Amino acid sequence: MTMINAAALVAAFGVASATALAIEPREPTVADCPGYVLKTYSQTENAFYADLKLAGTPCNIYGQDLQDLQLVVEYQTVDRLHVLIKDVANNVYQVPDEVFPRPDGAAGCLPSESNLVFSVVTEPFSFAVARKDSGETLFNTSGSDLVFESQYLRLRTQLPDQPHLYGLDMTGEHTDPFMLNTSDYTRTFWNRDAYGTPAGSNLYGHHDIYFDHRGDKGTHGVFLLNSNGADIKINDTAGQYLEYNTLGGVFDFYFLNGPEPRDVSRQYAEIAKLPALQPYWGLGYHNCRYGYQDAYAVAEVIANYSKAGIPLETMWTDIVRKDYMELRRTFSLDPERFPIERVREIVDYLHDHQQHYIVMVDPAMYAGPATGPSGGAYSRGVEQNVFLKEDNGSVYHGVVWPGVTAFPDWFNPDTQDFWNSEFQMFFDADSGVDIDALWIDMNEPSNFCTYPCSDPAAFAISSGNPPAPPEVRPESVRPISGFPGDFQPPGLQRRAVQDGAMMGLPDRELLDPPYHINNAAGIISNLTSNTNLVHSNGLVMYDTHDMYGSMMSSASRIAMEARRPTKRPLIITRSTFAGAGKDVGHWLGDNLSTWFHYRISIAQMIAFSSMFQIPMVGADICGFGGNTTDSLCARWALLGAFYPFMRNHNGFDSIAQEFYQKPLWTEAAKYAIDYRYRLLDYLYTAMWQQNQTGDPSISALYFTYPQDTNTFNISEQFFFGDSILVSPVVEENATSVDIYLPNDIFYDFFTYEPVQGQGAMLHLDNVSYTEIPVHIKGGSILPLRTNSANTTTELRKENFTIVVAPGTDGAAKGQLYVDDGESLVQNATSLITFDYSDKKFDMAGTFDYDVGVSVDAVIFLGQAQAPAVMGYGFDYNATSQALRVNIGQPLNGPLSFSL
Ligand SMILES: *[C@@H]1O[C@H](CO)[C@@H](O)[C@H](O)[C@H]1NC(C)=O
Ligand SMILES: *[C@@H]1O[C@H](CO)[C@@H](O)[C@H](O)[C@H]1NC(C)=O
Ligand SMILES: *[C@@H]1O[C@H](CO)[C@@H](O)[C@H](O)[C@H]1NC(C)=O
Ligand SMILES: *[C@@H]1O[C@H](CO)[C@@H](O)[C@H](O)[C@H]1NC(C)=O
Ligand SMILES: *[C@@H]1O[C@H](CO)[C@@H](O)[C@H](O)[C@H]1NC(C)=O
Ligand SMILES: *[C@@H]1O[C@H](CO)[C@@H](O)[C@H](O)[C@H]1NC(C)=O
Ligand SMILES: *[C@@H]1O[C@H](CO)[C@@H](O)[C@H](O)[C@H]1NC(C)=O
Ligand SMILES: *[C@@H]1O[C@H](CO)[C@@H](O)[C@H](O)[C@H]1NC(C)=O
Repeated sequence: MTMINAAALVAAFGVASATALAIEPREPTVADCPGYVLKTYSQTENAFYADLKLAGTPCNIYGQDLQDLQLVVEYQTVDRLHVLIKDVANNVYQVPDEVFPRPDGAAGCLPSESNLVFSVVTEPFSFAVARKDSGETLFNTSGSDLVFESQYLRLRTQLPDQPHLYGLDMTGEHTDPFMLNTSDYTRTFWNRDAYGTPAGSNLYGHHDIYFDHRGDKGTHGVFLLNSNGADIKINDTAGQYLEYNTLGGVFDFYFLNGPEPRDVSRQYAEIAKLPALQPYWGLGYHNCRYGYQDAYAVAEVIANYSKAGIPLETMWTDIVRKDYMELRRTFSLDPERFPIERVREIVDYLHDHQQHYIVMVDPAMYAGPATGPSGGAYSRGVEQNVFLKEDNGSVYHGVVWPGVTAFPDWFNPDTQDFWNSEFQMFFDADSGVDIDALWIDMNEPSNFCTYPCSDPAAFAISSGNPPAPPEVRPESVRPISGFPGDFQPPGLQRRAVQDGAMMGLPDRELLDPPYHINNAAGIISNLTSNTNLVHSNGLVMYDTHDMYGSMMSSASRIAMEARRPTKRPLIITRSTFAGAGKDVGHWLGDNLSTWFHYRISIAQMIAFSSMFQIPMVGADICGFGGNTTDSLCARWALLGAFYPFMRNHNGFDSIAQEFYQKPLWTEAAKYAIDYRYRLLDYLYTAMWQQNQTGDPSISALYFTYPQDTNTFNISEQFFFGDSILVSPVVEENATSVDIYLPNDIFYDFFTYEPVQGQGAMLHLDNVSYTEIPVHIKGGSILPLRTNSANTTTELRKENFTIVVAPGTDGAAKGQLYVDDGESLVQNATSLITFDYSDKKFDMAGTFDYDVGVSVDAVIFLGQAQAPAVMGYGFDYNATSQALRVNIGQPLNGPLSFSL
């Protein structure tokens, strides 16, 4: 690092100075905080360093103002700029690399090569990021001083009027509009158990990335890597702005250039990591319910699906009121209702029929004597010292489903071994519950016991957790003489907090900080673990809380890989932090059987797939809480067949909603699963593509039509893969829908008929309860299975039919990725590309994986007439303008022919 002269800095980094605004003396508010001044700076080839000094008297509103900050700016890639504002001493908490590995910026890029330009104003300190080519300012913090206190950080950026902003976890986890409100609006990050996913409140996840779409001026992304509780405020009362208000951490920004929306998705994946590829069978249809009374009820559901002829790929069980667990204790089986012999019979039956089984695991362990295998888990955890602790070294207790519980400390290096070993024992393939995949829940973490939760045992009883009272006596939750639970834990293993180790500032108000974020549960320690708990490595829950679910996800993935080392784990979690997609998928939580939740699931799914890089996502089909209705559940089956994760899930006190319960649902579900399965390889290919590059498998219309302003606010239509436009009916009892078709050529997915989009709304009538409007975008080639099947294993034996949907230029493209569908390491894969132009069809690529089936036909859409002569037999349908060319050849090598 060398000091260089200011002229050179201006050239490379755009340093300028301005005069500080005079501030009149009065009672201090945050608005009066003195801001910072840039004192000295230095730079390397691709990085810029500056010291920032508090510019006046500290205002100390929410803790102490920090005097000395450091600014680090790195041009990491041509499209990514990293801006870090932290304390010079490195004592302020930063998200640990072990939870969120930073992208490697070391190689860097020269400022002259970057598509972004950073500039800084020295006094008062502010910075801006602009596009190099157009000069368009993307982010500009001038006009509002930086505030950096021990328990509060604020930074505001100016934005153009009425910006088109998306993301910020909102659409993902806040049931708010897809395109964010830009006036008088707050989004809060603080993961919590939010039954019914109420509108406008913080829910289960923390994804602090927004996409700012400016039409023909491009799209960029801004990611803030910070895990502390936060309010993001968007308002237009002092010009349009977006303001970060966090309870701590540092400003660790990544600016992503785009300029296309998909570029931003890919650039974010470089930071958050590429999402895990899911097993092929995981894309099959799943059924679950909270409240299957016993193993016989589970067997009956499996049998009923089969009888109704609805393909059931995977059966799930919840903790259930009397579900599989004994008294709802993790790693236990109810010996009367779910005896191990019966459960193993069910799992064997499922496996014999190419079906799968999944159960739920919660992090909170029942804290009681070893009356069963679950009690054993607790005492083993105590012995291994893996639970979160109070200051006095005793295990911290909350109350969750089984009553008084303890929570694993994922930062403890021994916790992974504990978790692996509990999984090995309980899910043992030869003697235990031989699950195929995993469901993890309650990992915000949820705690039913309201703050301050001074007597969890009494709270457990008064709240009826677990519901059978005799088992929950106060003495049962305390160490009993002679029981391993009263072993004194081998002392606190916490690492002493060292200077410069980014472990968090001392002397903070950790339970109820002075700045109140808009947490729907009240203070941040309410209904979760206390935020003053110290992890074994010395970090505090105040800083790490929002990563708890993601850390459980990573630990569970490792434990699942240890069970079946060669297989890709499928894990579905409720709570997520940025980057979770590399380990897990996500269901959208405890929604309700309402049209509102049906509609909002689309925006949530788009956000998770295209913005947060967690593409294995879906909502509880037909709704979890409340009673579904005939038309809602039928429509939801049709929509849910386009969720990457397709699961019907229901609460115990709702009416039954397995699809076989009503003829209308049976009809809708069979139809839906039929087209889903014919599209399954297309979906799998899209998921694989995202795994390779971050290209989203589900996206909003503006991703494909970024210049078409009509698409910016569309939240009830979406692209499934690149080529399928889904436009569900969204109103109760309606049999018509107004859909938007961009100015482009489309084809009806079911009839193949061409539909010319006009860049206008199109009114569709007579859409029955068992139909959903779906269009193929012109320019696409889809590999479809010719027929559906009852399981994905059978589906893989079906032949392909290739559908060619030419664009306005007469050309089309597509691809098909095939592997064995489940191995972590593949011996052979096939990546087959399809191309159609100038009336010539080409299939090429690699064919190393033996697909073992044939191409039945290639169907060309939008053909005004049949060809005079063809080397193959063909059928032409003049009404739909579809030409079906019969091939009947193995899909094991190139194929080329002209029309
Ligand atoms: C937006 O600005 C108005 C006027 O200053 C203010 O009343 C409101 O609280 C602000 N909203 C947010 C979310 O900051
Ligand atoms: C894709 O998914 C696999 C399996 O989950 C994972 O190991 C891999 O890191 C992911 N990314 C790439 C680029 O393969
Ligand atoms: C905790 O949550 C409960 C239930 O929502 C609420 O009644 C209570 O006021 C909250 N307590 C605090 C301290 O925020
Ligand atoms: C659901 O329907 C059942 C049976 O009709 C009824 O007992 C229950 O109250 C209903 N639940 C709700 C939330 O409406
Ligand atoms: C939809 O139809 C049902 C059954 O006829 C009726 O009870 C309900 O009120 C209707 N809803 C609306 C919004 O019209
Ligand atoms: C699925 O199985 C049912 C019988 O349970 C059968 O009628 C149906 O044809 C099968 N469907 C497919 C696509 O093979
Ligand atoms: C991959 O090849 C090895 C060695 O031939 C074989 O043992 C293994 O079963 C193969 N795995 C798969 C998934 O085909
Ligand atoms: C697939 O196509 C081949 C060749 O035309 C045919 O022999 C075979 O029966 C077909 N398979 C199925 C499952 O239809």
